[in-house]
Amino acid sequence: MNPLIIALDFESAGKARELVDRLGDAVSVYKVGLELYAAAGMPFVRELAEQGKKVFLDLKLYDIGETVKRAVAQVAASGAAFTTVHGSRAVMEAAVAGRGESALKLLAVTVLTSFDQDDLADLGYPCAVADLVALRVRKAMEAGIDGIVCSPLEAATVRALAGPKAILVTPGVRSAGAGKGDQKRVATPAEALRAGATYLVIGRQVTRAEDPRAEVERILAEIAGSASVSGTAC
Ligand code: C5P
Repeated sequence: MNPLIIALDFESAGKARELVDRLGDAVSVYKVGLELYAAAGMPFVRELAEQGKKVFLDLKLYDIGETVKRAVAQVAASGAAFTTVHGSRAVMEAAVAGRGESALKLLAVTVLTSFDQDDLADLGYPCAVADLVALRVRKAMEAGIDGIVCSPLEAATVRALAGPKAILVTPGVRSAGAGKGDQKRVATPAEALRAGATYLVIGRQVTRAEDPRAEVERILAEIAGSASVSGTAC
């Protein structure tokens, strides 16, 4: 399976479309985040889905239950393959109700990886970040959520808590030597997969490459090479 999800962090459908065309059949899953969603909305999500691409619509929903349920039902009807909700029990249960019998996979955001202990204190939460992540992973699985978005550095712990069937999606992934941008804690694609990630979200390493398709192929070769090296070692 190709584990790459390419983040379409662009300000217009035109720019996103150009990259999708250049990547062709090398990539089958794309992340539409808040910027592109605000610019191009559901018509672009439907356009990608109609082309046979899987869309990860990263909306990080957080609202009253009825609103989350109804919004998720609309996302499911669009043909998107994955969407995100915050990991609070009422929000997650509403999302599960909203997706009904559709094939939409729901992913929970536990604690934003940009949050540290001071941010939790600011919210009035007295616990440690790692404890809140663990609590929310457990609640997500209890609520019927399909997977978790987490840092590759948390993936092994989250995998142990969420079990083998959970879908783990990790941003913050870079090949060794690729520019980190504003990401502080990164892992290579092979490290993230070894830690238990199912899918890897990669943005700028591909979107800003001179030849994005060649960059994707290089990353896939790097993953395959590392799998065969560890296979030999076993
Ligand atoms: O360009 P880069 O590979 O850093 O992009 C990663 C993508 O994953 C961006 O769309 C970013 O918003 C998203 N993301 C992240 N870290 C998180 C959650 C999402 O980088 N913790």
